[in-house]
Amino acid sequence: MDIWKFYSIREKLHTYCNPVNKDRLEPLLHLLRLRPNSTVLDIACGKGEFLIRLAELYHITGIGVDISPYFIQEAQNKAKKRTPNAPLAFIQLDAKNYKPPEDIQFDLTSCMGATWIWNGYKGTLEALKNMTKPEGTIIVGEPYWLKPPDPEYLKADNMKPEDFAESHYDNVKIGESLGLTCTYTLVSSKQDFDHYETLTWMAITDYAEENPTDPDLPQILERMKHEKHVYLQWQRDTMGWALYIFRKP
Ligand SMILES: C[S@@+](CC[C@H](N)C(=O)[O-])C[C@H]1O[C@@H](n2cnc3c(N)ncnc32)[C@H](O)[C@@H]1O
Repeated sequence: MDIWKFYSIREKLHTYCNPVNKDRLEPLLHLLRLRPNSTVLDIACGKGEFLIRLAELYHITGIGVDISPYFIQEAQNKAKKRTPNAPLAFIQLDAKNYKPPEDIQFDLTSCMGATWIWNGYKGTLEALKNMTKPEGTIIVGEPYWLKPPDPEYLKADNMKPEDFAESHYDNVKIGESLGLTCTYTLVSSKQDFDHYETLTWMAITDYAEENPTDPDLPQILERMKHEKHVYLQWQRDTMGWALYIFRKP
């Protein structure tokens, strides 16, 4: 099965494909206070909502990079409808190969929920720091452990304890150890996580009803069953998630 097809089905009902709460994010978008003509790079931009919403609030030039052709198409369609005159570009690419045009630095860089691109949270902060102007802003969305993960959970999800920081505080400290100043955090609640995860169950159930002859359906349903079990058995009580906002000196 095409993995990007799977994610497009799984996240069909999502606006943001991560546990951030759209309504609680809105005040943060206002707090960013971007100057006119600010430049923004969103790595793993998903369906482009972050850039499009910023373009509705400010006059920005934005680049979104995502590997999924489904999400890039959706971002382009949405931008055409909501911000037809905004200079936004959505590029389908493995973001580890992305190079900014003429090595420019951006006023704001972000990567919300895809830090594996640069081998984890620290590598992502370093990569974004290089692409951000002095006094610019870096936003990273990242999990952390609420408690030591059960070995069964790690096995079921093919993870290692060191994949994520031991606490929310540690994620802040890791950024500050790189010379960045953490200026704000937006921590997802259990309800936010439930919304993100359980919406995938609804989307897949809808898809199964509407596409009973899709040859990929048994695999899609099997994967949903596994993910539902992992979430309810372990993840819901073990993993936290937050957006970390840093200022580069
Ligand atoms: C958890 S989602 C977050 C999407 C978006 N940041 C949001 O908050 O809605 C992870 C995203 O990373 C993208 N992705 C995964 N691997 C990638 C890669 N190597 N390069 C670029 N994008 C990637 C996926 O297609 C997906 O859109």
